[in-house]
Amino acid sequence: MASSTVRPDNEDHDVAARLLLSAAKLSYDPATEVDWDTPLDKDFHGQSPEWNSLYGTAYWNEMTEDQRKELTRQESASVASTGIWFEMILQQMVLRDMYAKDPTDPRFQWALTEIADECRHSIMFARGAQKLGAPAYRPRRAVLELGRAFKTVGFGEAAYAGILVAEEVLDVMQRDWMRDERVVPFVRTINNIHVVEESRHMKFARDETRRRLARAGRARRNFHALVVAVAAYYIVTSLVSPDVYAKAGLDPVRARREAAANEHYKAQMRASCAGLMEFLASARLLTRPALFFYKRANLI
Ligand SMILES: [Fe+2]
Ligand SMILES: [Fe+2]
Repeated sequence: MASSTVRPDNEDHDVAARLLLSAAKLSYDPATEVDWDTPLDKDFHGQSPEWNSLYGTAYWNEMTEDQRKELTRQESASVASTGIWFEMILQQMVLRDMYAKDPTDPRFQWALTEIADECRHSIMFARGAQKLGAPAYRPRRAVLELGRAFKTVGFGEAAYAGILVAEEVLDVMQRDWMRDERVVPFVRTINNIHVVEESRHMKFARDETRRRLARAGRARRNFHALVVAVAAYYIVTSLVSPDVYAKAGLDPVRARREAAANEHYKAQMRASCAGLMEFLASARLLTRPALFFYKRANLI
């Protein structure tokens, strides 16, 4: 590959160098920043109720306030657990991407900084889900195996645009949760840390996606556009584990049926992904087959 011998141009240097400076100024250690010691206060929600998969349904209206709070705590934990799953995928993709690259390049140093961020995030999400009283929520078996394939062979713009999609989807909901006084304080801290550090990751992912696409031919672009859309579909549809309903004491069959038909939730998702879709369109990654998956995932 020529990329290891060709020095990146100045613009690439700039993005990564700026991100390194920013990370040096403001990064968090969740082990000390998050209040892990105060026992869970069940008067709080785990997420903004408006982000709950049942919000606005007949079932939601029948639930007691305590049931709603338990459900938002379980869904918050489920989103964090899906976050861990995807962060493990992206850490491996970035690490493989940087293998044997030039360590004096700011992009190399930034990539390793990002991996270190994600490693701290996953520990933070793991402790957070545990404190919320959640079991291990994981995507279903077939999705876990697709993720295993993606992390093992995903490269170039497919890897970085896939990373971007996951980060953007989490970003909008976590911005709401971190500001919401109904949400339990330690979850707000977790989301605040994640939003700050992920904004740098998203800049890098956008930059890398554009850089890699500049070298990609049409067939590769079209194929990767589809790969990214399929990845987005499975990330988004794995955010809320179907197991959260039984864990919150609900009838899982009815809950799943009403969640699947919840127009409020779908509209919320579409609104939050408008910026992402604009970027994907500008990168010419919204091909017709890709659009099919974004529509099915209610992202557009
Ligand atoms: Fe993260
Ligand atoms: Fe990230």
